[in-house]
Amino acid sequence: LFATFLGFRMGLLLGLCFSLLLGSTSAVDRGNFKTCAQSSFCKRQRALKPGQSPYRALLDTLELSDSRLTLQLINDNNKVHLLLELYRLQGNITRVKINELKPLKPRFEVPDVLVGEPPTEPLSVLSKDDNGVVLSLGPESQRLIVSARPFRLDIMEGPQVLLSLNSRGLLAFEHLQLRKNTQVDPEGAEVKENVDGAEQQGEEEKVGVYFKYCLKKPNLFLFLGPTSVSLDFSLPGVEHVYGIPEHADNLKLKTTEGGDPYRLYNLDVFQYELYNPMALYGAVPVMLAHNTQRTMGIFWLNAAETWVDISSNTAGKTVFGKMLDFVQGSSETPQTDVRWVSESGIIDVFIMLGPKPSDVFTQYASLTGTQSFPPLAALAYHQCRWNYNDQEDVKAVDQGFDQHDVPYDFIWLDIEHTDGKRYFTWDPHKFPQPKDMLQGIMDKRRMMVAIVDPHIKVDSGYKIHNEIRDKNFYVKNKDGGDYEGWCWPGNSGYPDFTNPEMRAFWASMFAYDQYEGSMENLYTWNDMNEPSVFNGPEVTMYKDAMHGSWEHRDLHNLYGFYVQLSVDIANGESDWSLFVCMNAGAVWTGDNAAEWEHLKISIPMCLSLGLVGISLCGADVGGFFKSPSTELLVRWYQTGAYQPFFRAHAHLDTPRREPWLFGPENTALIREAVRQRYALLPYWYQQFYQAHKTGQPVMRPLWVEYPKDTASFAIDDEFLIGRDLLVHPVTEEGARGLTAYLPGHGEVWYDVHTFQKHNGAQNLYIPVTMSSIPVFQRGGSIIPRKLRVRRSSACMENDPYTLYVALNPQRAAEGELYIDDGHTFSFQTKKEFIHRSLTFAYNTLTSRYLVKWVQVICFSCKLFLYNFFSDSPHTPLSLCYTGKETSVEFEFDASMSVLTLRKPGMNAGADWTVKLQ
Ligand SMILES: *[C@@H]1O[C@H](CO)[C@@H](O)[C@H](O)[C@H]1NC(C)=O
Repeated sequence: LFATFLGFRMGLLLGLCFSLLLGSTSAVDRGNFKTCAQSSFCKRQRALKPGQSPYRALLDTLELSDSRLTLQLINDNNKVHLLLELYRLQGNITRVKINELKPLKPRFEVPDVLVGEPPTEPLSVLSKDDNGVVLSLGPESQRLIVSARPFRLDIMEGPQVLLSLNSRGLLAFEHLQLRKNTQVDPEGAEVKENVDGAEQQGEEEKVGVYFKYCLKKPNLFLFLGPTSVSLDFSLPGVEHVYGIPEHADNLKLKTTEGGDPYRLYNLDVFQYELYNPMALYGAVPVMLAHNTQRTMGIFWLNAAETWVDISSNTAGKTVFGKMLDFVQGSSETPQTDVRWVSESGIIDVFIMLGPKPSDVFTQYASLTGTQSFPPLAALAYHQCRWNYNDQEDVKAVDQGFDQHDVPYDFIWLDIEHTDGKRYFTWDPHKFPQPKDMLQGIMDKRRMMVAIVDPHIKVDSGYKIHNEIRDKNFYVKNKDGGDYEGWCWPGNSGYPDFTNPEMRAFWASMFAYDQYEGSMENLYTWNDMNEPSVFNGPEVTMYKDAMHGSWEHRDLHNLYGFYVQLSVDIANGESDWSLFVCMNAGAVWTGDNAAEWEHLKISIPMCLSLGLVGISLCGADVGGFFKSPSTELLVRWYQTGAYQPFFRAHAHLDTPRREPWLFGPENTALIREAVRQRYALLPYWYQQFYQAHKTGQPVMRPLWVEYPKDTASFAIDDEFLIGRDLLVHPVTEEGARGLTAYLPGHGEVWYDVHTFQKHNGAQNLYIPVTMSSIPVFQRGGSIIPRKLRVRRSSACMENDPYTLYVALNPQRAAEGELYIDDGHTFSFQTKKEFIHRSLTFAYNTLTSRYLVKWVQVICFSCKLFLYNFFSDSPHTPLSLCYTGKETSVEFEFDASMSVLTLRKPGMNAGADWTVKLQ
């Protein structure tokens, strides 16, 4: 599953989508989407003033088991009791849960997102008196302080407050209550319906309009009031917060005072606007806070519509103003305050205490899992368009790539390939022989992706619809009938993917005998799973639609996650069959436009997703809506070639834009960009292996590697790939030059094209031409490449590797080489892979097992040549390989201090050393 999103057991999800209307070029219709003021719970919650918390902790209710502390809270205004649960989790994570002590019915708690029940550590009480309790959070001097009146929590290390909860008194928990004129059945729980018709389908609650909940018997409803929850967090010493994708905004989140909060509500937004907090296709409720001392994370586990307010006591102050404060002694500590509000569910929050950025990634990965490991081909280039018209068109495009010598791995088919938007089928006129087509692609060692959307045409002649209806697997409307909405096929049903049986059924469709015309090189694209409903409120499902006994309102942001989960099942059930190899969860940034600003924003949008565990991110190359200028298209290829998910896509109404349609010069520029991508695939693959193993992002903001370098904190026009490559794409029209920031005091960076060396911690002006893609390799690193670029990544399987050894000022370097078959799960099940550690020190380059127990299998991957970039000339050399010493051909370019060794002919899987003498 490729191309879908979300995938993964990773936070809540992303559904991505493409367009809603055809052809229009107007901007987003803001009137279609709510502001906080139009969302009654947001408006109500935002009206609360700080400093008036009615909540008090009842310390005599405290109970402590080994790893769990519980305590009741009381709201002194209405006397409702809440239950607070505190857990200390392994790896510096504190979990705080708040629910009603006795809700009238259970409130929704997000299932399936955590990889398991998180392992706990013992909690102990250090002291307790009438004012509060002090708990130890482990060996360091970290403590958790529970204050009773008003209730608040502070996490401290030594004398320093790291983070406080409810310090501004904005905890607000709307408890379930019976509607006043509801008659309670003498038996207690069941309540007779007593509505005056105020309930409007799909409208969320207005104050005074009550939701309806189905109780045990059909037609017996309990009418309950608003259910929103809210909590504030204060971060002393923090001026930079990041994350909570997906928004079309800068990497560093802005304060929201005077505007709307950031909104998390998966929506299919037509022509989204840039630099604002409106909700987009996906939602991951994780925020990172960073300063030079520490990185922390807040994971708000709630799947309902959510708004996040951010304020800061230094917002609007210039650096000079802050300096003045400091000099005059008037400076208060900078502080960022954050407030989360969700429409329903409970408060369940994980506070990840770092202290390093990499610790926060590890902590989040320990809760929700890591990025799945994509097949190598998924990291290569993808050609998509809405739509490739028919089999002949596909064949011609495929041949075009060969004629113009541009590699590609996947060609994608959008919705028009189906028989009337009935997914898992083919249009009988345009795609009469899908297997012939797929075979043609396979002969070139390439693959295809076809779209499968989660809305099902209501058509009694369509087998899948009949089965889902007969099995009663559709989402229901409030009256118990199948919910129907308008989408690509017209009137459509929406399978209830929250039901595991529905997921199993869907998974069973991904089989050669069910999905006619499918073959082993056909993969899937999950789209439209916000879910997108063209005639629904905000282009999605009514909030009172029912998933079993839960309202859509409770779990909206999980719908796409469950679609993905279902395809993951299909994926996991076979090894090398239909969908196997795409064990990736790739995400694209949705329906962008062919504009320079959209190219620029692709960087912070993907960086933000990477910070919260979704590394395989990209933006539609060229822009989905509108038609790019040739310059923009070329610049977009050059940028996309260095972003994780590299796919060109275009709207149905745009002119064709395959890479060779813009004259030989531009074809050459695009070819070169794509070839640079293919040459670097070994490094990309290795980065994704690491992301899969450790949860570290692949595309990284600079501050992640240089956490003390304040100059890097707000940079989002350049980025790192792993630790070792720094990319500053050209994203300005008509650019003649740009200024890149090279981070790191004492670090050196080499231009990968010229090998020119530059010192770190400087702003470097770089003149650019149309062929420039400014990329730098960090001194001290070794990067593997494959320099013989062929038609597709599979065709390069047996080609030799070239190691680029870039020396640091101490004349040392280190790196890794990870190799497996590129597409099966054998790396996991049979441990078939090569993972080598490469080090250069004392004039010797050495390759060793990094993982001792690997089984080495032969990929006939010869190491081919080395480029050493260094400052002082050295003459080679002898090569010691399997005990024998031989000398090697070399060249030395004194002007750039580059030493190249040719054809040492070692096996990548063996131990060897190369000595420069
Ligand atoms: C936990 O925090 C302590 C103190 O800040 C730190 O030394 C340690 O490395 C952290 N451990 C993990 C697993 O993040």
